[in-house]
Amino acid sequence: MSLKYNVVIIGAGNIGAFFDNPRSEDILTHAHGFSMDERFNLLGFVDINKEKGQKAAELWGCNYYGSIDGAKAGNKIDIVCIAVPDELHFEYLKKAMDMDVKLIFCEKPITKNLKDAEKLLEIYSSKNAKIVVNYSRRFVDEFYGIKNDYNGGKYGKFLTGTGYYGKGIMHNGSHMVDLLGVILGEVKENKALSGTNDFYADDPTVSVYLKFDEGGVILSAADCRAYTVFEADLLFEKKRIKILNSGFSIESYDIVDSPIFKGYKSLEQTGLFDTSLKMAMMNAVRNIGNHLEGNEEIKCSFFDAYKTLKICSSIRKGI
Ligand SMILES: NC(=O)c1ccc[n+]([C@@H]2O[C@H](COP(=O)([O-])OP(=O)(O)OC[C@H]3O[C@@H](n4cnc5c(N)ncnc54)[C@H](O)[C@@H]3O)[C@@H](O)[C@H]2O)c1
Repeated sequence: MSLKYNVVIIGAGNIGAFFDNPRSEDILTHAHGFSMDERFNLLGFVDINKEKGQKAAELWGCNYYGSIDGAKAGNKIDIVCIAVPDELHFEYLKKAMDMDVKLIFCEKPITKNLKDAEKLLEIYSSKNAKIVVNYSRRFVDEFYGIKNDYNGGKYGKFLTGTGYYGKGIMHNGSHMVDLLGVILGEVKENKALSGTNDFYADDPTVSVYLKFDEGGVILSAADCRAYTVFEADLLFEKKRIKILNSGFSIESYDIVDSPIFKGYKSLEQTGLFDTSLKMAMMNAVRNIGNHLEGNEEIKCSFFDAYKTLKICSSIRKGI
């Protein structure tokens, strides 16, 4: 099969290039994801840091460009990946939407604030651009399995839940808000409880109560200066699901007669499995390829990410 779509990655950092390498089993970088799918041709990296850009280009066998204009010279770019720090997503999304590319793959969050996201939404709607946003758990089948079992009635009603996250409500909390939205449906209300600036001065990690159609989830701000934790514990009438280790593993529990207290019901662990989160980047790239070929809906669109950002912005305003 001939290589079809030319890809340029803006940002030769961890998620762009260095979380893994071409020999890694796990697919954790944009470069690895696109290198694995023969429908794409990785042209190279754009980075203001020449040393990093060149190192990434060497690792992934492609080119280094000092700017987007440099990458455009003599090349037809089909896909632009935006893997620069959060505060630069706005600027690069605007630029990329002006470039007449087939699709933009952008890291989360789409912007640092709602005002900028709304400006982009206007451009996005007027240009009918195609944007995929990397809320990575949207590219993991096991989370849709939970959603489908819940929606199909297997778990009964959702009762209540708890969770932990750190590194800012926009930066990392938006991953949790997005994931809970996928599983439990729309966030109907939110009530911020308290906040701590553990990572960014302008992006506090906020403890918050999120209300869904059935039940609510209390997310606790876990200060990332001590360690990183991303977990959710969801209690349904007939099942308990624990999303652990950033979503790399899931524990499930069923209801049994209490072995200790006669007549009581209790929970017993009946499942523990790894998810395919370590393959999420490959799945995202596959989704991009399938979408471009007209075979699949985008699994995390600009609008999905905008809705998540809007909730997170409202949470941030609440403290
Ligand atoms: N989806 C996920 O699970 C996930 C995981 C990690 C990071 N991220 C997101 O990816 C983005 C990048 O994170 P990272 O950890 O790779 O950061 P990083 O700091 O490792 O890499 C960022 C790169 O951007 C380059 N850069 C800075 N300014 C630039 C500019 N003006 N033009 C071009 N390049 C520039 C830097 O030199 C650096 O190489 C962040 O927005 C982060 O939120 C997402």
